[in-house]
Amino acid sequence: TQSRSSAASDVYKRQLKNCSISEMQNIYKQLEMPQSEFEPYLLWDNSKYTRNCIFRNDDFELLVLCWDNGQESSIHYHNDQECWLYNIRGEFKEKRYKLVENKPQLTDNFELERNRFSYMNDEMGLHKVINSFSGQSASLHLYAKPINECKHYNPNTNQFETSKLSYHSYNGELTETII
Ligand code: SIN
Repeated sequence: TQSRSSAASDVYKRQLKNCSISEMQNIYKQLEMPQSEFEPYLLWDNSKYTRNCIFRNDDFELLVLCWDNGQESSIHYHNDQECWLYNIRGEFKEKRYKLVENKPQLTDNFELERNRFSYMNDEMGLHKVINSFSGQSASLHLYAKPINECKHYNPNTNQFETSKLSYHSYNGELTETII
């Protein structure tokens, strides 16, 4: 099947492929990111937010996450990896937590405005992301290194669980495969 990847994703691939992790954030900021370039990855689903992979190698993965009205992630860690989060469409709230007696305790709660970055790692604590827009939102996530599974909090059981993370699409093609 022919790839539906966009010109912007080809730029990402060329630029990010050969750079060190510390250079990533600068490149990420410098690249022009017109909304239209994300079209192949804007795939919403009304049952859960979707994870759409633009590119992945051993050092990082670049994803577009699509959030329908009212969707949010669970409170989670990042598997000892780094996470950059960028609002490309709509509105988000980010809530941050630290662990107190094995339970997440809220430490911060803020808006992630359009074209703004947020950075997170496990030393900083846990977080969750909420689509606070009255419609569809989308965010760009850079994980270094890629995150295959993560620990998240289940409020019903008060326990942490580890879940594998799957892609809704890869390189613009829908996938059923957990990568
Ligand atoms: C998030 O940071 O809330 C999204 C987690 C994910 O990659 O699924």
